[in-house]
Amino acid sequence: MIRIAPSILSADFVRLADAVALVEGCADMLHVDVMDGHFVPNLTIGPPVIKALKATTRMPLDCHLMIEDAERWFKVYREAGADWISVHAEGCAHLHRTVSGIAETGAKAGVAINPGTPIEVLDEVLPLLHHVVLMSVNPGFGGQKFIESTIEKTRRLQRKIIDSGLETVIEIDGGVGPENIAALAHAGAAVFVAGNSVFGQDDPVAAIDALRSSAAPTDRS
Ligand code: DX5
Ligand code: ZN
Repeated sequence: MIRIAPSILSADFVRLADAVALVEGCADMLHVDVMDGHFVPNLTIGPPVIKALKATTRMPLDCHLMIEDAERWFKVYREAGADWISVHAEGCAHLHRTVSGIAETGAKAGVAINPGTPIEVLDEVLPLLHHVVLMSVNPGFGGQKFIESTIEKTRRLQRKIIDSGLETVIEIDGGVGPENIAALAHAGAAVFVAGNSVFGQDDPVAAIDALRSSAAPTDRS
């Protein structure tokens, strides 16, 4: 099953509720990028906005924490309404403790890794994870160019998941569009974050449909 998660980072922040209402009913979840200006060179939103989003949508909130000290903050994001919470392996000194703690809150626990980080950092925590976010751009900004080697990385991660007898969901974040979504789905990805390719388009609803039909398996041979 393919899930499309529009990223509100590319929406008009002055009309956030309108953007959310527009994709409600055709998107599967909403991707929310939390940046602290330290872990990444950009600053976005925090718990009050997540709380406001939660009150305005039935879609699950997929919160991607690009912050330092995620161990200290994840509970606050959960209380604000985060349904899926991913933390960066590169920003967590105690990754095992942090993902265990996230799962204990009842949220879907995930780990995100940067393009330069090998999938082996996930080995010891993979059985604890609901999802892995493979970054296909260096985090910090929307609208960047997709890093092609992510397709092969997805394939290797999917092989590891299958070989371990797990069902971990692979989510791809950054530069996803109709031109690469089929290859990513074929490689094993199931959730696709889409910022520019949804909210950067004239018709975000048609853009989601286009992503979905591009991702649909055609020739699996
Ligand atoms: C980048 C963010 C992404 C971003 C994706 O740091 O984590 O979620 O919003 O935007 P696009 O799809 O435009 O690359
Ligand atoms: Zn993200």
